Amino acid sequence: DYTTKIANQVFHHLFINAAGVYCQTFEELEQIQNAPCAGAVITKSATAKERSGNSEPRYFENSVEHNTINSMGLPNLGIDYYLNYVLKHSLKLPTLFSIVGLCQKEIIDNLKKLQASDFSGLTELNLSYPNVSGKPQIAYDFAATREILDNVFAFYSKPLGVKLPPYFDIAHFDQIAAILNDYPLAYVNAINSVGNGLVIDPETDTVMIKPKDGFGGLGGKQIKATALANVRALRQRLHPQIKIIATGGVTNGRNVYDHLLCGADLVSVGSQLGIEGPTVFARLEKELEEIFADKGITDLRQVRGKLKLI
Ligand code: DHB
Repeated sequence: DYTTKIANQVFHHLFINAAGVYCQTFEELEQIQNAPCAGAVITKSATAKERSGNSEPRYFENSVEHNTINSMGLPNLGIDYYLNYVLKHSLKLPTLFSIVGLCQKEIIDNLKKLQASDFSGLTELNLSYPNVSGKPQIAYDFAATREILDNVFAFYSKPLGVKLPPYFDIAHFDQIAAILNDYPLAYVNAINSVGNGLVIDPETDTVMIKPKDGFGGLGGKQIKATALANVRALRQRLHPQIKIIATGGVTNGRNVYDHLLCGADLVSVGSQLGIEGPTVFARLEKELEEIFADKGITDLRQVRGKLKLI
């Protein structure tokens, strides 16, 4: 029994698509809705208006090493498209609505639209998109993060989570957690892609993606240790009522188990979902079940947050 609650939503499986993957169009969102063992679906981070994003090629996957780099640049069909999706389709799964803005006003306007709508799922405010030139990741600026959350919680009353970038310093874990603990957040989602990596094609000595001269957000196996550290560090610091969606480096059941040990409530899958497709969730759940059977685990409470020290 994988039943997990975040705010008003009940999840029967642990898995979600990571925002950006399989969630741009109705058709992709439906594929997640219908995927065996999917626990929820999240929409592509939406701006006020449709955007075509950065130039191509803007995504590269190494399906042997299970690593990706992307510089999509927020291609999306606009908030009204996704609002139409979540309101007009009879959805089987809990829905998370990812919101983004290129300036604070756009974030606030988008959230006002959601607030005024009949949307009743979880809202995920993306404070960590790394690929739009000239727009630093908001959550690396602690004063800006606090200002936005002040302005958001002044009016927003639906359950809200934030998508965080990876942090790499203990002092930064302390600082971001202290800020987040000042707000009635339903959850945090950690981590977004590891920003501004560089991958080189050894055949041609060129960068792998075109935007930003090849710099882009890293995903897949290469970010697993960073993702686990962020989930663990946040779980140790955040108030227990703030739940955690773990994202980063999940390619097999053991990785899911590790995120649970670090304190994950739910687990999302990005790069490996892109590589493998929506059947990935059922494979991960089966592999997790085998680990549980081996260890005699019958209840998630025996695992969540139970990482051991030496
Ligand atoms: C994009 C990438 C991200 O990591 C994100 O959180 C949002 C958007 C993008 O390039 O489209």
